[in-house]
Amino acid sequence: MAPNEVLAEARAELIRKSAGFSRIECDFGASKGKFLSESAVLNPAVFFAGIEGLSDRVNRANRKIERQGIANASLWRGWGKESLDALIPDGFLDTLHVSFPDPWPKRRHWFRRLVKEPFLEVAARKLKPGGVLRLMTDHLGYFASMKEEVATHGGWVEVDWRDGFQRPVTEFETIFLAKGDPIGRVAVKRGEG
Ligand SMILES: C[S@@+](CC[C@H](N)C(=O)[O-])C[C@H]1O[C@@H](n2cnc3c(N)ncnc32)[C@H](O)[C@@H]1O
Repeated sequence: MAPNEVLAEARAELIRKSAGFSRIECDFGASKGKFLSESAVLNPAVFFAGIEGLSDRVNRANRKIERQGIANASLWRGWGKESLDALIPDGFLDTLHVSFPDPWPKRRHWFRRLVKEPFLEVAARKLKPGGVLRLMTDHLGYFASMKEEVATHGGWVEVDWRDGFQRPVTEFETIFLAKGDPIGRVAVKRGEG
């Protein structure tokens, strides 16, 4: 099956699985699904959709979610902003999480960083009015660049990181917290029009 057909099928599956949930969140770069599955258990009224580039991680995480009988979470394989655009309908998400995206620390690789204007353009379209994008990274240079990209893109307002939901730590957050590394966190809300 062509990649577009796979994503079209995945989108139909996401719409089917999340039907009946008034709140939907997406974790982009969900890795092995730790944050996603724990979030789903802590917040049973919310549906959690994960997007992850590596199919072995997606398959393993989905098997675990099924074994645990978690009905409000699932991961799909997808790469880059194109997969977010293809999988998620416009105006669908209450919250989009991007935690510890690959930092690409060398200047000559910065063009590969995810959190830039083209990604923000798609993210803004996928969020409901008033929806929130939550960004986290241990790379403080990337953190500064993320905030600049958000400001340049425009239409976002910073909101309190604490949002009243139970938020488990992510896989990478656990590692950096154990090392005592500083972590940059920012939540920005899409204007309500
Ligand atoms: C550094 S890990 C962080 C994982 C997780 N968010 C966490 O906080 O523990 C980055 C994850 O994003 C995935 N990833 C990186 N670039 C991606 C892209 N462009 N599209 C989809 N997934 C991507 C990687 O395969 C990896 O699982």
